[in-house]
Amino acid sequence: MPKPIALLVFVVVEIVLLPITVVGQFLFYIDFAVKVPGKNLNLTTYDPAFARWILDALGKREDKAARQLIPAMPGVSRLTLGLAFAPTMWLMRITDLTINMYDYPVHRSTGIIGAFGHRTRFFDDALLGHLDSVEQVVILGAGWDTRAYTLARREGVRVFEVDDAGMQVQKRLALEAAKVDTTGVVFASADFNLESWLDALRRVDFDPDKPTFVLLEGVTYYLNPDAIEATLQTVATKLAKGSAVAFDYVGQHIIEGEGSPLYRLLVPATRFLGRHTAWVFGIRTDSPAQENLMVFLGENGLRLAGYEPVGKPDPKQRLVGGLALAANDLES
Ligand SMILES: C[S@@+](CC[C@H](N)C(=O)[O-])C[C@H]1O[C@@H](n2cnc3c(N)ncnc32)[C@H](O)[C@@H]1O
Repeated sequence: MPKPIALLVFVVVEIVLLPITVVGQFLFYIDFAVKVPGKNLNLTTYDPAFARWILDALGKREDKAARQLIPAMPGVSRLTLGLAFAPTMWLMRITDLTINMYDYPVHRSTGIIGAFGHRTRFFDDALLGHLDSVEQVVILGAGWDTRAYTLARREGVRVFEVDDAGMQVQKRLALEAAKVDTTGVVFASADFNLESWLDALRRVDFDPDKPTFVLLEGVTYYLNPDAIEATLQTVATKLAKGSAVAFDYVGQHIIEGEGSPLYRLLVPATRFLGRHTAWVFGIRTDSPAQENLMVFLGENGLRLAGYEPVGKPDPKQRLVGGLALAANDLES
């Protein structure tokens, strides 16, 4: 089908099928509101998990563990998943068009909202790029991420997941119910705003003297600036040389309420979504954004080893955010 016709079909049918999607989303929120209270879970963990589940379902990025795990998450049923996402997935299949958020591999995204495909690719690349040189992988704020049981599996590499205790309890229950093979993965819990994740890891036999790849996907915005700096400095000074950390971030101006109207609504809304959902941390993304990041990392003892911008510059030349890979081999 020629692209303009495919686009027209996509838009028209998407509008016609919108009520099904809306009913699916609505049922999901009701299920979440009814089944999840008291479980210390928050909604922010669900969207990236759904995005990876969709990437797998579309055949763009294989993730058997997500296929098993996502229907076992509290508040999720096959019915709501089907209603909420099937119309758009079906349209993407028949028109051969893909929404940026559900594309893979993506090398550029227009904003945080559409960034799942982009950031997933960036972090997959960063992780795979380190598996030959590190002996440990640490996934901080792992949420429903499944890399520990899929991409990160490599002989000679130990994988650790660290998250808030409430989140982790629910994940482990869901992993068990879904019969996901978690052999060899070590779990530790910590509130990064209150305690050192390294101390939590030490209690489960993590060895800081072995080179380690640390992943913080979709996490930095929720952490206090002190916790972020402590995290970066831990990688810089307490982990073996050859260690690295990958993370995504939003522009500081967005946290300060100077983003586009969308972010001006979103940032205050994040304060009401539950535990660990408020956006409180950002890094300067005014031009030159890469240099700002480099300086920030340098102040925390790290070298910028990889960078991709997120979003288009606003009228004041500020980007929405960025994706960063930092190594602890900075010459002092
Ligand atoms: C948006 S989710 C991202 C999850 C996962 N990395 C992904 O990309 O699917 C944010 C994660 O950070 C964790 N988190 C947020 N604040 C935290 C804190 N202060 N201490 C520990 N974990 C935290 C949440 O529990 C959640 O798992």
